[in-house]
Amino acid sequence: MPKDFTTTPVPPRAELHNTPMGFFQSLTEARKNLLNIVPHAATTMPIISGKTGVRWHMVMDPTALRTVLNEKLDIYPKSDVTKRILRPAIGESLFIVEGAEWRWQRRTASPVFQVRNIDNLAPIMSQAASDCVDRLAALDVPVADIYAETVRMTLEVISDVTFSDGDAIDRHMVGEAIAQYIDKVAKVSFLDMIGAPSWIPRMSRMMGPSSLGRLQGVANSAIRNRENSPKEGVPDLLDLLMQGKDTETGRKMTHGELRDNVLAFITAGHETTALSLAWAMYLCAFDQDVQDRARAEAQAALNGEIATADHIADLGYTRQIIQEALRLYPPAAFISRNALETHELCGREVRKGDIVMIPIYALHRNALLWDNPDHFDPDRFAPDAKYDRYAYIPFGNGPRICIGMEFALRESQIILATLLSRFKFELTDRPPPQPELLLTLRPKGGIHLKITKL
Ligand code: HEM
Repeated sequence: MPKDFTTTPVPPRAELHNTPMGFFQSLTEARKNLLNIVPHAATTMPIISGKTGVRWHMVMDPTALRTVLNEKLDIYPKSDVTKRILRPAIGESLFIVEGAEWRWQRRTASPVFQVRNIDNLAPIMSQAASDCVDRLAALDVPVADIYAETVRMTLEVISDVTFSDGDAIDRHMVGEAIAQYIDKVAKVSFLDMIGAPSWIPRMSRMMGPSSLGRLQGVANSAIRNRENSPKEGVPDLLDLLMQGKDTETGRKMTHGELRDNVLAFITAGHETTALSLAWAMYLCAFDQDVQDRARAEAQAALNGEIATADHIADLGYTRQIIQEALRLYPPAAFISRNALETHELCGREVRKGDIVMIPIYALHRNALLWDNPDHFDPDRFAPDAKYDRYAYIPFGNGPRICIGMEFALRESQIILATLLSRFKFELTDRPPPQPELLLTLRPKGGIHLKITKL
C-alpha cells in the first residue's frame, strides 16, 4: 500500500532562506554553511540569477542541466575556483584537467573502475564491514558515533585499494596522512564560488608539508616501488592505473599524473562515501519500517555471512536506501561551472564569465521535480521507477560523471547490508543532525545511534 506522507515526519532538512542577501552577508553565511546562501526558491523554481561580486545562475532545470553537464560540456568547464582550490594537491588529475587532456585521462582511467575490478577489490570492503561488526558487538555502552565508524571503514577501504603494498607501506601512517589531508581539504571554503576576493586563504597556503607532502611521499614511493618490481596479487587501483593506456594513442600516465589521480580518488571518494553511508544509517534508524524491510532482504541474502560482491545482486532494496540517502543528503551538494561563451539557459542569458551553480541539495528537493520532496522514500528508486536522470545527480552526470560511482555504491551496499543483518539501529534523544555544507554535506552534531545486537 502506498505510504501516506501527510502523516509521516520528515527527516532533518536545512532551513533555506527567503530574503535576498548582500555581498558581505553572503560571504559570512557561506563560511558558516554554504546552504545558507541557497535561497528557498531554489526548491520551487527552475533557475535563479543574481550578482554577488560576479554574475551567477543557480540551475535546477533538468533540461538546462543536461546542456551544461553534457551537450555543451566544452563551454561549461569546471569553475576556476574549484580548480584553484584543488590544483596544488591534485592538479594533474582527471578531476581538474579539461578538454583533450581530460578526455585521454578519462579513457585511460575508466577501465580501472570496471565492475570486474571493483569486485576483485570487494574483499577489502567486506573486511572493513566485518571489523565494524566486531567493534559494535564489543561496545560497553550501546550508543555509537556512526559517522566516526563510517569514516573509519571507508578510510580503511580507500587506503587498502590505493596503496595495498603490505609491508612496504605503513598502513597506519597512510591512514593518518589521509585523515589529516581530508581534514585540511574540508576546511577550504567555497567562498570563492561566489566571487570572494583573493585574500581568502587557498589550499596551497593551508596545506602544510605535514599532510599533503606526506601523502604525496607515500604515493611517490609506491609508484617507484612498483616500477622497479611489480606487486603480486590482486591489482589495486594504483596497479590498474599504471597498467592503463590510452586506447587511441597508447599514451601512459606520467609519474605526476599517476600520483595526482590516486590522490584524487582519495579526495573525492573517501569522505563522500562515508557520508552517504552515515546518512543512510541515520535514515534507517529514522524509519524502522524501512530498516525492517532492508534487514529482511540482508538476512535472506547473507544467511549469517558478511556481505561480499556475490551478494550485490540480491541487495536491491539496500541500494535503493543508499540512492534515497544520496538524494536527501548529497555529499557533493553544490558544484559549479564557468561559462566560456554567452549562451541561453531556461530562456535566460548566461554571459561569458558568469558562474553557473548547481545546488544539488536543492535540485533533489525541488517541488517541480519530486513528490513529497523532503520525505524519505526508498521506493522512488524501485526498479520500475521513472525520474529524470538530470533531476537526480548525486554523482554529477554526462561525460564527467563520477568515475567512482559504482565503487561507492557497492561499498555502501556491502557495509550497510552487513550491519543491518546483525544489529538494530535506533535514534537516541540527542537533537537530530543538521545538514551543514562546507566542502561536503556533513551531519552537524554527528550521527549517534542506539545499537542492539540481534
Ligand atoms: C558517495 C560517494 C561519492 C559521491 C557522492 C561522489 C560525487 C561526485 C561528483 C558530484 C562528481 C562530479 C563533480 C563535478 O562534475 O563537478 C564526482 C567526480 C569524480 N569522482 Fe566522485 N563521488 C563519490 C565517490 C567517489 C569515489 C569512490 C571515487 C574514486 C575512488 C571518486 C572519484 C571521482 C573522480 C576522479 C571524479 C572526477 C571525474 C571526471 O571529472 O572525469 N568519487 N564525484
